[in-house]
Amino acid sequence: MLRLGVAGLGLAGGVMVAAARTHPGVALASAADPQDRLRKAFVESEGARGYASVEEMIAAGGIDAVYVATPHQFHRSHAIAAARAGLHVIVEKPMALTLADCDAMIAAADEAGVAMVVGHTHGFAPAIREISALVRSGTYGALGMIAAWNYTDFLYRPRRSEELDTRLGGGILYNQLPHQVDIARTITGRPVRSVRAMTAVLDARRPTEGLCAALLELDGGVPASLVYSGYDHFDSDELHGWIAEGGGVKQPAHGGARLALRSLTAAQEREARVTRMGYGGRRAAPPAHQPHFGEIVVTCAGADLRVSSDGVTAYADDGVTEHTVPAAPWWPGRGDVLQELIAAVNGAPPPHDGRFGRETVRVCLAIARSARERREIQLSPEGEETDARTA
Ligand SMILES: NC(=O)c1ccc[n+]([C@@H]2O[C@H](COP(=O)([O-])OP(=O)(O)OC[C@H]3O[C@@H](n4cnc5c(N)ncnc54)[C@H](O)[C@@H]3O)[C@@H](O)[C@H]2O)c1
Repeated sequence: MLRLGVAGLGLAGGVMVAAARTHPGVALASAADPQDRLRKAFVESEGARGYASVEEMIAAGGIDAVYVATPHQFHRSHAIAAARAGLHVIVEKPMALTLADCDAMIAAADEAGVAMVVGHTHGFAPAIREISALVRSGTYGALGMIAAWNYTDFLYRPRRSEELDTRLGGGILYNQLPHQVDIARTITGRPVRSVRAMTAVLDARRPTEGLCAALLELDGGVPASLVYSGYDHFDSDELHGWIAEGGGVKQPAHGGARLALRSLTAAQEREARVTRMGYGGRRAAPPAHQPHFGEIVVTCAGADLRVSSDGVTAYADDGVTEHTVPAAPWWPGRGDVLQELIAAVNGAPPPHDGRFGRETVRVCLAIARSARERREIQLSPEGEETDARTA
């Protein structure tokens, strides 16, 4: 059993706790969060230990791995502290906000000889792995292009102040684009060679990027178009049978998050960020359908492949075929992250390791830079680009 310590009991921490509960190879041992009520709820519901800081949790021992789900700006220090204590690490996306931070994290894991997995992103989703297997095996012929398209309420969920400040890693560029970039990279297994992107800030009250249209060129001349809008007017889950991102059934509510936010003061929004989105001790069951991240269509010479609610639909020359993904023995997506770490601890190099996570950060930084400088950014194979945030 891998004894897991959870750093940060917010939205990401809460969902991973639920996933860890259902994973047969993981024992939830402890969690760290400065917020008393989240910690208290965790200790009472999970029967595990709680600490006010990640450093205390690490020093107390009794864990084999740390899942870093603290705000972006803490990923570097928390991942390095865990690695230096000889603990394996899962670090949430984005791995960090600069390439220098990613390099320091990779070096710390290498020096300590511990495994590091970067996730969860939707690159871990079983349906994405299925589409990837179909593409890479050439089942439907040569790969033509990828279209990824997601319309959400991202910007209108209750937010911490830094989540609305791009300089601190706010907005969709570092929080949502990593999913689409990882999906394109996971499906193809190919590096991104160039990026041209445009972004916009449409609401001065939420003054950070809320939309992005990016065109990635993958190795071999394969285009991936990534379209994302977090402005909560249209919800693209309508095109997905009202299955939510996590795979659960969802009530239609175009504009619902905007409306709910309108009645909150700034202080109430801060409060709601914790109470509505943080760990609540819910003993949620795994979702009924596969997780997804908007509409994903992959065009091959012999078929268009589309992520469906339960797997992949192939629209081929000779008709439509459903490739249903078998039910996972753990929480789909997040359980796959835990499983990848367990496999890594047992000697199987993780596909989504620190170097993979760094590359996704590099692409996201190039997207930001392309939008800022209104030009195409080439990504050299050596990975030596100037850090777009500090350039
Ligand atoms: N993969 C996904 O689908 C997914 C979903 C949500 C968030 N995330 C990622 O997870 C990270 C956290 O996001 P979130 O939405 O859960 O934020 P959140 O605000 O809901 O949770 C962050 C938690 O970290 C705690 N925290 C802050 N400083 C801390 C410290 N020094 N030590 C320990 N705990 C500390 C906060 O009190 C809070 O409870 C982000 O990097 C985000 O990108 C990933």
